[in-house]
This record gives sequence, structure tokens and C-alpha cells, in this order.
Amino acid sequence: MNFKLTEEHEMIRKMVRDFAINEVGPTAAERDEEERFDREIFDKMGELGLTGIPWPEKYGGIGSDFLAYAIAVEELSRVDASVGVTLSAHTSLAGWPVYKFGTEEQKQKYLRPMAEGKSIGAYCLTEPGSGSDAGNMKTIARKEGDHYVLNGSKIFITNGGVADIYIVFALTNPELKHKGTSAFIVESSFPGFKVGKKEEKLGIRSSPTTEVIFEDCIVPAENLLGEEGDGFKIAMMTLDGGRNGIAAQAVGIAQGALDAAVSYAKEREQFGKPIMKNQGVSFKLADMATNIEAARLLTYQAAWLESEGLPYGKASAMAKLFAGDTAMKTTIEAVQVFGGYGYTKEYPVERFMRDAKITQIYEGTQEIQRLVISRML
Ligand code: CAA
Repeated sequence: MNFKLTEEHEMIRKMVRDFAINEVGPTAAERDEEERFDREIFDKMGELGLTGIPWPEKYGGIGSDFLAYAIAVEELSRVDASVGVTLSAHTSLAGWPVYKFGTEEQKQKYLRPMAEGKSIGAYCLTEPGSGSDAGNMKTIARKEGDHYVLNGSKIFITNGGVADIYIVFALTNPELKHKGTSAFIVESSFPGFKVGKKEEKLGIRSSPTTEVIFEDCIVPAENLLGEEGDGFKIAMMTLDGGRNGIAAQAVGIAQGALDAAVSYAKEREQFGKPIMKNQGVSFKLADMATNIEAARLLTYQAAWLESEGLPYGKASAMAKLFAGDTAMKTTIEAVQVFGGYGYTKEYPVERFMRDAKITQIYEGTQEIQRLVISRML
């Protein structure tokens, strides 16, 4: 076994860390406050090649792997989890299914601009009545000649409204339920595509989350992804990898909170000495650091498995489960280390704490991760 990252991985980490600290960090608190998505940040990620890390160069990517991608999401989230999830949903949830199931034409038309950072991707599975029970969707796609007509609505769509390309799951044969589900590549410019309500959220506030509505939305037949009836499997397989992107986001959030807590504990003096000198604080920090390292190892392992072409669904669910809980626990403790100051917006730990919560919810709640893991035991 070798736990040493390659030179390429270290180089990507350094590049993303520099970018995150210099270009993302300075406006993170302000964008959170204003719930403002900044396309310029995404464009710059495109220029750096971050929007297509695991995809081959012939599809506009940089030809690296899923570990490099996890490292990038981690480093961004260490500074700003909203930017982290923008990249994660874009890559894992929108790019991946096109890479895996798309025709050559679909890859050139849709994966390439996403990989180059010219288009933003999103994934539309959840509906008002089907969250954890994803197979219970109601959105319909009716075939009419050379196109499909989509009707229905999706909610909680990450990158909603700012994305150009949406991977949409809809029923082509409602009687067959999940076996009658199909996947489509939908452009935001297609007639009948509408963006609905934008959610006001506790955390990841500068990452837009919206409703997406299809009102007789016309989708060309060539935009069917895979075969009719493949949709549910495509959705599930996409989430297998997506969950590790969220694990990486959670590791980044936790590390960002720990970094802030350690430097504060070393400098804040009470009773004549830095609070770090108290075991009540230093042991807390030791536990935080240990949990983060374990979460990181699970995350990197799942990413490595995917890069090697080995089964990674269980590893990815375990990584998301453990890293999400670690992010929540760590950020709560980081606020505690800061005391009253941690509860204010003067320091970033309250934002990390608000951002951490979603990692226990999206791309499958922690309870769904346990279901996925236990079914594989
Ligand atoms: N890979 C391939 N196939 C899979 C699969 C996987 N990981 N998981 C299930 N399947 C297949 C099964 O083999 C089965 O196939 P057959 O019918 O041919 O036998 C079929 O799919 C149905 O599987 P299940 O019987 O296991 O289905 P279920 O109804 O019991 O549900 C579930 C399974 C795991 C609970 C699933 O519904 C699930 O993952 N729910 C959570 C959904 C979720 O994570 N939503 C998040 C949306 S994205 C988001 O959060 C927003 C964002 O933008 C970030």
C-alpha cells in the first residue's frame, strides 16, 4: 500500500489551495450573506482546468482522476463549501452520466463545454413527493415523433438557474415505475424549461438551489441519455460517485473549521495562558483532527477505487456518512472553541457550521447511506 499522493495530486492540491485562498476566500462571507453566486469564480475554475478534472482531454478535460477531483472539492470547501458543491454537482452529477452513458455526439456537444467550464451542469432527480424515495417520481416524458415532451417539476436543484445543462429523470413508461424511468440532457434554452422558486437556506447560501419546472418542455429524441428505461440505474450510479464529492466537501469544511480553531486556540489567552494549554480544548482539537483524517482516508479510498475501475458504491456511501457526521461534529466544536466570538460573523466558523449540515442531507440523507451500505453487507 502507498498513502503518498503523486506529484500530480500534490500539484493540483497546491493550485486549488492557492486559488481558493486568493480568489474565493476574500468574498466567501459576503457572498454567503448576499446569497450571491459568482459566475466569474466558476469561469476562473474553467480556465484552471478544474471543471473537467477526471475527463479525458478529447472531451475538454485535463485527463486526471477522481482522487484529484476529490482533492479539488476538499480544498475549495476548506474555504467556501458553496463553491465546493458547485464544482461537485457540475462534475459528478452532470458530467459523469454524460461521460459514462453519452454517445460520442452527446459527449462532444455537452461534456466538452462542461469540462472546459463554458457550461455549468446540474442534476434533476428530486421532486416534491420523491426525495429519499427517488423511484416515486411523477415527471413524465411523452414521445412525440422526433422529440419528447416533458411535464413536471423538480426541487432542490443545486446550480439551478445558473446551469446551462440539466440531467433530468422522467417517466417514459409510468406503469413500469423505476423501470420506466429515462434520463435526458436538457438545455436551459429548450422551450418549456423554467426555473422556479429559489430556496433561502441555512448554509451553502451562495450556491443557488432552485425548483426546475417543465411545461410541455420539448427535448429532442437524440437527447435521451442511454436507453429508455435506463434512467433509474443512471440516477443511482451517478449518485454513487456524487456522494464521494459530498464526502470531499465535508472533509474540506471540517478541515477549514479545525484550521481556524487551532490558530484561535493558540492565540486566545484566558487565565494567563493560551486556551490551547487546557486539555479541555487541546483534546477536543485532537479528536477533531483524528476524525478528519479518518474521513479523508475513506474519501480518498473511494475516489481511488473509482479511478481504478473497481466497485466504489459502498465505499462512497461510507465516506459520505462518516465525513458528513465529522463535518457537523467538528464545526460545532470549532464554534465552541471560539466561545462567544464563534457565534458571530466576525469569524468563519459559524458559516462552516451552517454549511456542514447539508452534507448530512443531500445526495442521500445519512439514513439512506446506511440503507445503501447495509444492503451491501
Ligand atoms: N447502481 C446500479 N443500480 C442500482 C443502484 C446502484 N447504485 N441502486 C439501485 N439500483 C437498481 C437496483 O438494482 C434495482 O434494479 P432492478 O429493478 O433491475 O432490480 C433498481 O435500481 C431499484 O433499486 P432498489 O429496489 O434498491 O430501489 P429503492 O426504491 O429501494 O431505492 C434507494 C433505493 C437507495 C433508497 C434510492 O431511492 C436512493 O438512493 N434514494 C436517495 C436519493 C438521493 O440520494 N437523492 C439525492 C438527489 S441529488 C441532490 O441531493 C441534490 C443536488 O443537486 C446535490
